[in-house]
Amino acid sequence: MDSPIAVIGGTGRVGRLVTRQLLARGETVRVIGRSTQRARRHMPAQAQYFTADVRDPGTLRTPLHGCAAVVYAVEPGTDAAGPDSPESTLHGGVRHVLDTLGAAGADRHFVLVSQRHVTRRDHPMNAYGRMLDWRLAGEDAVRSSGLPYTVIRPGWLTDEPGHGVLHLE
Ligand SMILES: NC(=O)c1ccc[n+]([C@@H]2O[C@H](COP(=O)([O-])OP(=O)(O)OC[C@H]3O[C@@H](n4cnc5c(N)ncnc54)[C@H](OP(=O)(O)O)[C@@H]3O)[C@@H](O)[C@H]2O)c1
Repeated sequence: MDSPIAVIGGTGRVGRLVTRQLLARGETVRVIGRSTQRARRHMPAQAQYFTADVRDPGTLRTPLHGCAAVVYAVEPGTDAAGPDSPESTLHGGVRHVLDTLGAAGADRHFVLVSQRHVTRRDHPMNAYGRMLDWRLAGEDAVRSSGLPYTVIRPGWLTDEPGHGVLHLE
């Protein structure tokens, strides 16, 4: 495909695997993150790196310009009040990306890496900055955006390539 695919959080554990798979398919990949140091350590040479912060919408315009699809694989902090709070990264950040895509007027596919248990408000993980509530709010923002989308709700990941499909009874 000629238009690039943006992987926000592409220097992270999930994002690195996604980036490698896309490159192997012959896609052009833009990795987006905050730390150039992390990018130097973890990014394949064939990917392009852009420094941007999902909490700061002004930084997203250039890296998202002209992309065919966006993969959002951002890890939140666990403190409800901190700058990395689940509210700012899992909901605010998703909205900033959607707004940036909407302002460009294009129909980009949005892939959101969410997590298992997201609908279980009583789950212990929700004690960390209401992480599950904000994830669900981020999912809802994607679903109501009108863009084509995929939401993935993984459980614990092993950071290894897939080895087939496990069928649970
Ligand atoms: N790994 C698992 O087992 C697992 C299981 C279920 C769900 N998930 C979900 O999958 C997503 C990715 O997880 P992961 O394990 O890959 O996390 P990770 O290794 O900590 O990577 C997180 C990525 O997000 C980027 N990031 C963080 N804050 C950002 C911001 N404000 N703006 C732009 N980029 C930002 C980081 O780069 P910088 O720090 O350079 O910005 C990094 O590339 C998360 O939502 C996680 O909860 C993971």
